[in-house]
Parts: sequence; C-alpha cells; structure tokens
Amino acid sequence: LCGFVASGEAQTYPTRSITMIVPFAAGGPTDVVARIVTSHMAQTLGQSIIIENVVGAGGTTATTRAARAANDGYMLITGHMGTHAASVPLYPKLAYHPEKDFEPIALLAGTPILILARKDFPPKDLKEFVTYVKANAEKVNAAHAGIGSVSHVSCELLHSILDIKPVGVPFNGTGPAMNALVGGQVDYICDQIVNAVPQINAGTIKAYAIATAERNPSLPNVPTTAEAGLPAFQAQAWNAMFAPKGTSPAIVASLNAAAVRALDDETVRKRLLELGSVIPTPAERTPEALAALVKSEIAKWTPVLKPAS
Ligand code: MLT
Repeated sequence: LCGFVASGEAQTYPTRSITMIVPFAAGGPTDVVARIVTSHMAQTLGQSIIIENVVGAGGTTATTRAARAANDGYMLITGHMGTHAASVPLYPKLAYHPEKDFEPIALLAGTPILILARKDFPPKDLKEFVTYVKANAEKVNAAHAGIGSVSHVSCELLHSILDIKPVGVPFNGTGPAMNALVGGQVDYICDQIVNAVPQINAGTIKAYAIATAERNPSLPNVPTTAEAGLPAFQAQAWNAMFAPKGTSPAIVASLNAAAVRALDDETVRKRLLELGSVIPTPAERTPEALAALVKSEIAKWTPVLKPAS
C-alpha cells in the first residue's frame, strides 16, 4: 500500500509552487547556487520554485524553520557546510539536527574557499598577508556571514593555523559582506568562490589564494595556498538541498531527479563552472551520498570547532 501511495504522490507532486529557503542574504553564494539550479528544476517539475531568503544566526534561524516546516515537499532549504555540519559543534542548543531532522535531496555544488581582501589592503601576496595579519592581529578585521557560516568557519581554520584572533565583522550573508569588502569597509574574508569570481575579474578586490589542491579554471591566475606558501590551509564548502524529515520517498525521488537533470543541463553547468563551482559527479548526487557527506562533515568539524561563547 505504501508503495502505491508513494508512486501516486509522485505523479501528482507538485501541484503548486514550492518555496526554497535560502538561509543567507540574496546575491550571496548560497542564493546564487540555489537560483541557478532551481530555475531549471522548476521547468522539470512544472511549478515555480520561489526563493525565500531568511537570514540570521549564521543560517541556523532559517534552517530551524525548514526543519519544522510541513514535510509535504512544498518547503525546502538549500543548506551548506555551515548549516548542516559546522553548526552542530558551534551551537550546543541548536534547535535541529542536520541528520535527524532532514531528508537529503541532492548535493548541488562544491565551492572552494579563497582568501580575499579589499583592493587596497597592504599585503601584495599570501606570504605578506600572513606576516601582516600576524603583526596587526589587533587591528585587522575579517568579514563573515555569522557564527557557523562557511566564511566564519573557514577563517576560524585559517586563524587557528596562524594562531591569531582578529575581530570578526558579521553580515547576513557574504553577498553584503562582499559589498563591504569592495567598499573597503572590511579588510578580508574567507569566502566561497561563486561570490568572488566576478569581483576578482573586475579587479574590485584582491585574491591571495584558493584553498584547494588545484587552481580553479575560472581563476587560472590565482595560486593555491600550497603554491603561495600556506599548504596547511585547505578548505572547500558545499551547497545542498534538503527537505524536512518524513518527506515521502517519492517526493524526494522527484526532487532528486529534477536536481540531477539541472546538473546535467549545459546552461546550468556553464553558469556554475563560470563561477568556479565544482559540479558533483553522478555518484555524489544521490540522497544517500549527501547523507554520508553530512555525517562525515559533522565528524570532521566537531573536533575542530568549539562552541560559540
Ligand atoms: C552566503 O550565501 O551568504 C554564504 O553561503 C554565507 C557563508 O556561509 O559564508
């Protein structure tokens, strides 16, 4: 009977528009990835997908809301390494658990991290940056998107490697943080590549290094952290789609199929690649693979991050 109900549901779902919660400000990396993928998914599903940006508390406010939403497939969330992994050790009173309160749908993009600075920040390369921020740790500041966000967690890792504790300047997302960096109001940021490529290419900010093993094809002139002299700093985030726990397997399968189709579409791929994203392989796009990623990321970050005071 269950199987019959499930497949009947899959044939009718969706009958109305779907809301996709983005836990950060419009124009930032999560928003950009969600919009690129859902605009194609909406064509496959035959219904619009409306993005709702719900900001605050490093994405955990929105993620709590998504966890508590009806599990009927009409309220989904695009979460990431922060909301669905790093938040666990950082927020001891987190009102949701990434593994227990969500049905994973699909990984959408890998997003390498870059160390970026305002255009007129004095250091001219990564070695100078390291020397400068160590010497001026009380004066410099690092923008981020709230405790537990990718930008916060990535720079925490960088700061622990450098053994410094600069001031953090929180924003509702790295979209607004990037505006402040371009405007010269903050010094630097550890941000996901999709937010940075247009600005780096326009010369409105400085890129010191990309924290991955290889250079990124969208930024061939930006050295890796290893090339630039800081091999210990390796960081890549990810964005993924989740539904509230208990969403039927048939609905999860419909959404996964639509996401997979989007990731196979030439226009979607071109857009994601232009922004430096890493497109998940077919094996990485299943709900099971996303469940395994969330589990391994929580295990990875828990010993590294301490609860926010
Ligand atoms: C955003 O979309 O603003 C980012 O994903 C924020 C972050 O986690 O750094």
